[in-house]
Amino acid sequence: MIAFENVTKRFPLGNVALESVSFTVNDNDFVFLVGPSGAGKTTILRLIMHEYLPSSGNVTINDQVISSKSFRKIHELRRQIGVIFQDFKILPEKNVYENISLSLKVNKTPSSQIQQEVLKALSLVGLSKKERVFPSQLSAGELQRVAIARAIVGNRDIILADEPTGNLDPKTAWEIMKIFKKLEGRKTIIIATHNTDIVNSLQKRVILMKDGRLIKDMKKGGYEL
Ligand SMILES: Nc1ncnc2c1ncn2[C@@H]1O[C@H](COP(=O)(O)OP(=O)(O)OP(=O)(O)O)[C@@H](O)[C@H]1O
Ligand SMILES: [Mg+2]
Repeated sequence: MIAFENVTKRFPLGNVALESVSFTVNDNDFVFLVGPSGAGKTTILRLIMHEYLPSSGNVTINDQVISSKSFRKIHELRRQIGVIFQDFKILPEKNVYENISLSLKVNKTPSSQIQQEVLKALSLVGLSKKERVFPSQLSAGELQRVAIARAIVGNRDIILADEPTGNLDPKTAWEIMKIFKKLEGRKTIIIATHNTDIVNSLQKRVILMKDGRLIKDMKKGGYEL
């Protein structure tokens, strides 16, 4: 479970990115995080990723409260979380298989298990047979599929995506969203997005942010800004 309790995040020059934000996301929930630019969506994801400490309030991930103490266990905590970005962040000099297996290698997973996991993830994202291909030979949609495969290997139970369809045409954006839908019920999924078309169509829980405040938390449904 992910819980935010009155979380405020201030930056050194006085910028307030989040102001007393509270919500909980249960295991295997599917949530869209929406709101205009500067609303605080990325800040929420970064707090969950343990990139920031809250200025006040508590962020709890799977019963672990994020604190300067928990930061010492940061590698262990981050292992539970897979992240997907708008600009894919795929390493250009490594092939698809190497990109996806990197985190497993770092964790010293046996290579037979790595192979099994990578092939399973590639099949889920619809990229079987592309494992030896290099990123320069892939389309934007395919790069995002690689990023999703990379995020799900290693039995991560939380998947965070920051504007995952922002660099994709509408048709490809829907293909990517269908992959997230496939993961529904198996992982906790939080997707920050400006794509109102997708959010309104899928009728999932929507957390609406504005100016660092949580404006609405809708169980099911679309939204209007
Ligand atoms: N590292 C930082 N230092 C100072 N201010 C920051 C920092 N990160 C974010 N902010 C500020 O916090 C606010 C929220 O930013 P955030 O990136 O969370 O918004 P967002 O909802 O993700 O916006 P977008 O839709 O444009 O990605 C903004 O006013 C931003 O300028
Ligand atoms: Mg953002």
